[in-house]
Amino acid sequence: MHDPLPHGGLIRKLWIGEAEIYRDHLLRLDPDSRRNRFAGTVSDEFVRDYAELSFGIDAIIHGFFVDGALCGAAELRPIGAPIAREAEAAFSIEKPWQSHGVGSVLLERTLLAARNRGLKFLHMACLADNKRMQQLARKYDAELSFDFASVIGEVAAARPTPLSVMREILADSHGFATAMLDVQSRLLKPV
Ligand SMILES: CC(C)(COP(=O)(O)OP(=O)(O)OC[C@H]1O[C@@H](n2cnc3c(N)ncnc32)[C@H](O)[C@@H]1OP(=O)(O)O)[C@@H](O)C(=O)NCCC(=O)NCCS
Repeated sequence: MHDPLPHGGLIRKLWIGEAEIYRDHLLRLDPDSRRNRFAGTVSDEFVRDYAELSFGIDAIIHGFFVDGALCGAAELRPIGAPIAREAEAAFSIEKPWQSHGVGSVLLERTLLAARNRGLKFLHMACLADNKRMQQLARKYDAELSFDFASVIGEVAAARPTPLSVMREILADSHGFATAMLDVQSRLLKPV
């Protein structure tokens, strides 16, 4: 797994209790990005309610942080009966950080998390004019086959292996360590 993030950026899973920073991140999306993220125009109130509800027990949200601020996120949420092995994935990157490779790393982490949970089908509500998301998905053709008419991607290697589980654990421990360093360096900054 390569990690070509912009300088100073880190990716880690969001923790319980971080619903507010997730809400604020979603509210900061510019109108076009918000429309693309929610596959249509939605109000601030909708976004607030959505962020509160999205911290359900099943959701896995990876966050992209810069200097402790959440600037991007990828949500993975199992849907339907567990036997169906289906999930919904959605990405949101704030405008200044778009086209810097962040979506690619977030999609890699999301695919790994999906694989390790045996999730096979990923649904993404992607508008037809969202070329960047389509390009991003195409980059992962080997791991994911997309049908943009019905917006369903199939994770090619849905079975977890000890190695894929280890990759997620390593990514998580790295995320935790760097998050702690980030907190420490902010605490040490002169006020
Ligand atoms: C769509 C989105 C997730 C893509 O993430 P990103 O970080 O901007 O994308 P990346 O920089 O990783 O680029 C991925 C690929 O998209 C393509 N791409 C990048 N910028 C592009 C642009 N301006 N126009 C068209 N394609 C573009 C490239 O092929 C790129 O891969 P490459 O750099 O290896 O060639 C992000 O832009 C975003 O959050 N947009 C708003 C919300 C949204 O559309 N969500 C998706 C619906 S769920």
